[in-house]
Amino acid sequence: MVSFTLAAAVSALAATAAAESYSGGANADGKYELSAEGIRAHFIPYGASVSNLWINDTNGIERDIVLGFDNASHYSVDKFHPHLGGVPGRYANRIKNSSFVIDGTEYHVTPNENNNNDTLHGGPDGWDFRNWTVVAHTSDSITFSIVDPDGKEGFPGEVVSYVTYTLSPHTWHIKMVALATTKKTPIMLSSHTYWNLDAFANPDTATALNWTLSLPYSGQRVGVDGILIPDGTILPNHKYSINDFWSSPKQIGANWTSPDLLGNCGTNCTGYDNCYLVNRAQNGPYDWANDGPVAVIASPWSGIQIDIFTDQDAFQVYSCGGQNGLLPIKSNQGLDSRARVVEQFGCVVLEVQDYIDGINQPEWQREKKQIFGPGDEPYVLEAKYVFSTKKSS
Ligand SMILES: *[C@@H]1O[C@H](CO)[C@@H](O)[C@H](O)[C@H]1NC(C)=O
Ligand SMILES: *[C@@H]1O[C@H](CO)[C@@H](O)[C@H](O)[C@H]1NC(C)=O
Ligand SMILES: *[C@@H]1O[C@H](CO)[C@@H](O)[C@H](O)[C@H]1NC(C)=O
Ligand SMILES: *[C@@H]1O[C@H](CO)[C@@H](O)[C@H](O)[C@H]1NC(C)=O
Ligand SMILES: *[C@@H]1O[C@H](CO)[C@@H](O)[C@H](O)[C@H]1NC(C)=O
Ligand SMILES: *[C@@H]1O[C@H](CO)[C@@H](O)[C@H](O)[C@H]1NC(C)=O
Ligand SMILES: *[C@@H]1O[C@H](CO)[C@@H](O)[C@H](O)[C@H]1NC(C)=O
Ligand SMILES: *[C@@H]1O[C@H](CO)[C@@H](O)[C@H](O)[C@H]1NC(C)=O
Repeated sequence: MVSFTLAAAVSALAATAAAESYSGGANADGKYELSAEGIRAHFIPYGASVSNLWINDTNGIERDIVLGFDNASHYSVDKFHPHLGGVPGRYANRIKNSSFVIDGTEYHVTPNENNNNDTLHGGPDGWDFRNWTVVAHTSDSITFSIVDPDGKEGFPGEVVSYVTYTLSPHTWHIKMVALATTKKTPIMLSSHTYWNLDAFANPDTATALNWTLSLPYSGQRVGVDGILIPDGTILPNHKYSINDFWSSPKQIGANWTSPDLLGNCGTNCTGYDNCYLVNRAQNGPYDWANDGPVAVIASPWSGIQIDIFTDQDAFQVYSCGGQNGLLPIKSNQGLDSRARVVEQFGCVVLEVQDYIDGINQPEWQREKKQIFGPGDEPYVLEAKYVFSTKKSS
């Protein structure tokens, strides 16, 4: 009954949206524009994704600092894109052996990575590969919804989710809500935005290695095996080690010559693809929206800085080691003098989320944050990205 009511409500909203015709809201490229002082962005129904985000650099030049495609229709055509700007769901990151147990029942979900040894981002048809419904759109806000049926990709029960993006001066706000309406099921969402703070226009480099990253609450990280599946350990990020971004800010590439970096993001992988814990509670009660940020990243070339605030307890950093020059950049990015592609280490993905694969590590006791059933409080993720520019000296 609950399921029927919610699904019906969502369809009704969708029907209203269609009737009121939001087609006026989407531009010729199929994108929905939002803006506020100092920020402008485009979003698309595919994956509830951000496709463009413009910030003025220190010289007042508008830079589109996220990866994406020029036309919204291209996302469904190029299925090989790496989760560009969307909402991975219903369970972000990896699920070990594509299985988990809830109340003694073992569930098997559809594998899609490492020769089908695990499930990444909710399976081959995860939420960021589907068109969401636009249920509301104003000049500074958009809400998407999705109904994920019982059994889809092997997950138990129906999940109904709403994602709202709002812009306020220099800030992008994210609120994700999801309800398990019929059965207990894992839910973990994130925003999988790829950033290039220079819009690929820095003549000296198209990589992210010179940007400065700070993770002030992240003295620990999740230990993983060679295919990035958590092995149950929580590891220390010792001061001055390659994973130390907490004791002081450092350039992403600061430790690029360290032999420790090889294998840090899986077998034979150099760089970062790590889940850092966000340990704030030991300092007493905190207000996620005002205490923090949990991460700061800045480019010395464009001067653009992002301060990330979130209510989530973990933070994944991926330094785009898997990029290989095949993914195109957008027509408003880059330089004519250089190949118009994303080269290796040409971006970073910064994912607010919970402890990865917490559903297979019961001793972490994340079940209240990751397993939801009918009658439970909804799953909620909130974050805000605050943009500023610094004159480099
Ligand atoms: C975007 O793609 C759609 C569908 O292929 C097409 O109708 C539209 O003209 C494209 N937009 C532009 C600006 O080319
Ligand atoms: C960038 O600056 C120009 C000129 O002041 C302004 O018109 C534009 O709105 C700014 N762009 C953003 C994204 O704030
Ligand atoms: C992985 O799942 C399969 C069933 O899909 C099971 O037979 C196998 O024992 C599991 N392997 C591990 C290491 O848990
Ligand atoms: C994945 O599973 C297959 C067997 O199905 C195995 O041969 C392979 O070594 C496993 N690991 C990876 C990383 O592919
Ligand atoms: C998403 O919607 C677009 C525009 O209507 C359509 O071209 C595309 O095929 C849809 N993609 C999926 C995966 O449903
Ligand atoms: C990157 O930063 C280093 C200093 O850490 C500097 O020597 C180098 O020139 C910078 N490279 C680029 C391309 O900005
Ligand atoms: C990593 O870089 C920082 C900043 O330059 C340095 O202090 C630290 O010693 C380096 N660590 C390793 C393991 O190379
Ligand atoms: C890792 O790299 C070595 C040397 O290039 C290669 O022999 C080995 O097969 C690679 N292993 C994997 C799992 O890719």
